[in-house]
Amino acid sequence: MGQAPVPAPRRAYDLYTLDTVRTPPLTAGRVHLTPLAETDAAEMAEVLAGDALYTFIGGSAPTLEQLRHRYARQAAGSPDPRQEWHNWIIRTTAGGRAVGYVQATVTENGGRAEIAWVVGLAWQGRGYAAESARAMVAWLRSRGIVEIVAHIHPDHTASAAVARRVGLEPTDEFHHGERLWRAPLPPDAA
Ligand SMILES: CC(C)(COP(=O)(O)OP(=O)(O)OC[C@H]1O[C@@H](n2cnc3c(N)ncnc32)[C@H](O)[C@@H]1OP(=O)(O)O)[C@@H](O)C(=O)NCCC(=O)NCCS
Repeated sequence: MGQAPVPAPRRAYDLYTLDTVRTPPLTAGRVHLTPLAETDAAEMAEVLAGDALYTFIGGSAPTLEQLRHRYARQAAGSPDPRQEWHNWIIRTTAGGRAVGYVQATVTENGGRAEIAWVVGLAWQGRGYAAESARAMVAWLRSRGIVEIVAHIHPDHTASAAVARRVGLEPTDEFHHGERLWRAPLPPDAA
């Protein structure tokens, strides 16, 4: 049997071809993260219902039609080749039902990722957001992305707890009333 070829070492500028990085399915503990598709809209319209979901992020529950359009756009990927959009539906491994989503927007030539998470009201408090965010961050880190950030309303205890769980720390920077959380840079990336 032939030996598997040894991959050539990658140079920093080889790492990211931003417009060609596909969103992979990810699995972690009790959740599967499946790349979002337009066909998820009907199921997700139920998950994203309820005004309380929008207390800290603003906006309101999308209609099915709005969600179909949004998902078609998101699944097509960023029209700006300098950005990557990665959107995953959070599904339970037991049963496969959709319970929320996580997303990452990669910019700065693959140097920075902004992340976010939403879990439907009926499924909150079961660790789904933390588990999903951890899997997403592990994938981002496996690609060598060191700067990982999130913007979180200062009163949003649950979201802050998710950020802490994935290794982000609060900063003193605010944008539009939301605090910037950031993963500490490794010493060799500072
Ligand atoms: C933030 C959100 C995703 C958390 O989802 P979740 O699946 O309930 O979170 P988890 O069950 O993984 O819990 C994560 C942490 O939050 C804590 N938590 C969960 N619900 C909480 C609540 N209502 N109040 C305080 N803490 C809470 C958990 O105890 C856990 O903390 P720990 O890890 O220290 O034990 C969910 O509340 C949500 O979707 N909110 C609306 C959308 C939103 O604001 N998204 C954030 C955008 S940045």
